[in-house]
Amino acid sequence: MTGESTFPTFPDGFRWGVATSAYQIEGAVEADGRGASIWDTFSHRAGAVDNGDTGDVACDHYHRYGEDIALMRELGVDSYRFSVAWPRIQPQGSGRPSSAGLDFYSRLVDELLAAGIEPCLTLYHWDLPQRLEEAGGWRERDTAGRFADYAAIVHRELGDRVRLWTTLNEPFCSAFLGYAEGRHAPGAREGHEALAAAHHLLLGHGAATAAMRAQRYGHESFGITLNLNPVTPVSDSPEDVAAARRYECYQNLVFSDPVLAGSYPDVESTVWGEISDFSFRRGGDLELIGAELDFLGVNNYFPGYVRAAPFESVDPKLRTADDIGVELDPPESLRRTTMNWPVEAAGLSRLLLWLDERYPELPPIYITENGTSGFDAPDGEGEVHDGHRIEYLDTHLRELRGAMRAGVVVHGYYCWSLLDNFEWAEGYKQRFGLVYVDFESQRRVRKDSFDWYRRTVAHSREPD
Ligand code: NOJ
Repeated sequence: MTGESTFPTFPDGFRWGVATSAYQIEGAVEADGRGASIWDTFSHRAGAVDNGDTGDVACDHYHRYGEDIALMRELGVDSYRFSVAWPRIQPQGSGRPSSAGLDFYSRLVDELLAAGIEPCLTLYHWDLPQRLEEAGGWRERDTAGRFADYAAIVHRELGDRVRLWTTLNEPFCSAFLGYAEGRHAPGAREGHEALAAAHHLLLGHGAATAAMRAQRYGHESFGITLNLNPVTPVSDSPEDVAAARRYECYQNLVFSDPVLAGSYPDVESTVWGEISDFSFRRGGDLELIGAELDFLGVNNYFPGYVRAAPFESVDPKLRTADDIGVELDPPESLRRTTMNWPVEAAGLSRLLLWLDERYPELPPIYITENGTSGFDAPDGEGEVHDGHRIEYLDTHLRELRGAMRAGVVVHGYYCWSLLDNFEWAEGYKQRFGLVYVDFESQRRVRKDSFDWYRRTVAHSREPD
């Protein structure tokens, strides 16, 4: 192990995993009748993605999943978090499912189980069928119903073998990056209309969970994955403190409060101001959205240090955190990753303790993503030395263990990511994998962090 002190062991039954998502790794976008998703459309739009990269081929995992499962087996992980591509199951977003699409995931699940790896299935990792976007996408309430139908189809097929289910991955990104900032598909810049998208995503989560529970096989756990950041004002000036409250609302509470407390945050009006028309929120919605969860998936990469920025009133064209008078200004002392994200492992434990304190009914947590990017490349010997990633993972896992010792119930940890892959608007240059992918040849090269994670997982199982 790296690090000064002995790496901690983790409790029996703690699940170690790696995570990926469909559009980022599968490629094969036209195979077996798959329909187009908003990411196919968006990534082909000039200027949308760095270097003009698309997910057309990605890691070709659709054809190479056997090799990728062998890598996971070598790592010794307990669980693999992947997502199902909705347009493989319902190419047009509704109607009869494609048996070829279902078969692919059925084979994947069977092979994982045969390798002793538990599948953790995400239903929506951002690849909305393009046809549904043409009908309004997540702006429309109807999309939540379509999503519940799709969830029921996948669950009916795989629920006998898959125990861990998450509905949405990071609805913050789908709503705010997709419909306000325009940095993600569908690339809309519709300002505070994105709030309707956020609500309909959450409604989709609630409706999908209810539909799956109604047909449950008995062993399943249902959850949702939110990307949450610990929030700290850079000073105790009233301006910075108020800005931090706005950021916390925008980044965390608009999603975590409905799901974990069955309410919208009471500080909302300080963020959205007077301009908000919330008529898309209807009676009964919060009951569905806030219904019991079996676990919460938490994705965290960096902390949010907040400074007040000039701000008079909310611009209805709200696009980014800047538009709510927030500037993210982490301490200079924190190293930045190639994504320019500040690295502070203690942020992860602060976040977990904050969740535990805020939500009395907090279900068990899985860290469904944590990890770091780099411009990793093989050296002359063909080896990839990513000490920066080992250091990131080592320090974050120690903090995670600390939070667990302080009482936060965490059942597992998934490193993002198994493979270098299509990093959305950043394309392929940002590499998050434990395994380096040569995108020309599709050759997989184990990075130093792969070996480190394998040893860490093995060590964590030794008796204390
Ligand atoms: C969050 C997303 O869920 C995942 O798709 C993305 O690649 C990682 N974070 C890194 O940005």
